[in-house]
Amino acid sequence: MTTASTSRIDRQLSSSPRSQAERAALMADPGFGRVHTDHMVAIRWTVDQGWHDARLTAYQPLQLDPAAMVLHYGQAIFEGLKAYRQPDGGVAVFRPEENAARFNRSAHRLAMPELPHELFLAAVDELVAADHAWVPTAEGQSLYLRPFMIATEAQVGMRPAFEYLFLLIAFPVTPFFPGEVKPVTVWLSDEYVRAAVGGTGEAKCAGNYAGSLLAQRQAAEQGCDQVVWLDAVERRWVEEMGGMNLFFVLDGGKRLLTPALTGTLLPGVVRDSLLTLAPSLGLTVEQGRISKDDWRKGCEDGSIGEVFACGTAAVIAPVGHAKSATGNWSVGDGSAGPVTMRLRAALLDLQYGRAADPYGWLRPVQPAS
Ligand code: COI
Repeated sequence: MTTASTSRIDRQLSSSPRSQAERAALMADPGFGRVHTDHMVAIRWTVDQGWHDARLTAYQPLQLDPAAMVLHYGQAIFEGLKAYRQPDGGVAVFRPEENAARFNRSAHRLAMPELPHELFLAAVDELVAADHAWVPTAEGQSLYLRPFMIATEAQVGMRPAFEYLFLLIAFPVTPFFPGEVKPVTVWLSDEYVRAAVGGTGEAKCAGNYAGSLLAQRQAAEQGCDQVVWLDAVERRWVEEMGGMNLFFVLDGGKRLLTPALTGTLLPGVVRDSLLTLAPSLGLTVEQGRISKDDWRKGCEDGSIGEVFACGTAAVIAPVGHAKSATGNWSVGDGSAGPVTMRLRAALLDLQYGRAADPYGWLRPVQPAS
């Protein structure tokens, strides 16, 4: 469904951007997703015109008809990626091409139009250039970019919409789990499932996240920070943690195992980055299967020393304890393990430009002139 288009984005800068002092106050403690920057990018798609009317404008509310199809049938997809302040004061975005590709796979799964890669990248470049000063310099902070697409056609007949809106907004953020790297406790849900083969599990669509909230609430009621999803058929194979991918550290810290992409897991960009980076740290990597019983047994006999989750928002979050309807266990001594912390440091060093980038993962963006 990709249509020919121009990647020219009309720049209409805000007439009332926040002052430097206002920005500094907001960025002192931005949290996650609360503080938006001054601008956004909007691009329209219609069945007749394809992608058109691409513009950078002041951040502003949307006007949406109550019959807009996204409000009824949930055609909504999104991405998450980050821009990092570099040691020379510049800014670089981490692997936006991967997000552009996944965005289109999600679009395809939800019968939505694909956005040409160059237009996705132009939107990222344009917003980061305009809001360059919003990329934090404080340790551990970054600018979180949230591209998304919704069905805007106003009619409630049930079919793929004929009109869509792509939007890109940005938030300076502290990591999803702020503070020192504190291990999380997880609840293995055998009541609810996230995805089944043939469903939308590998798409980054809003509905997957809506469907996870009740299980997440149940996890909280069990005293846990996050829910762990098991496969939909046997309720046995470990898939993901909340909106993040999981890794297991085996063989005395020499081997990494992550659940294979079976069609029900989100193919995480951080997941892929760690699989690529880990061999340079002397680790072997494997994509395979691990059952909830193997997880528990491995922790009890010491063959699993560490477990962690990863994602753009969270970076890397160690898992310290697991709870389930059939029993509870700890991972190692429940603290963040050395392999987890080494991988985390290696990834962050690359993202913040403190280490070389042999993979060409950083896309530098200059401020708007
Ligand atoms: C991300 O890690 O960027 C995500 O999209 C997960 C979301 C729940 C914040």
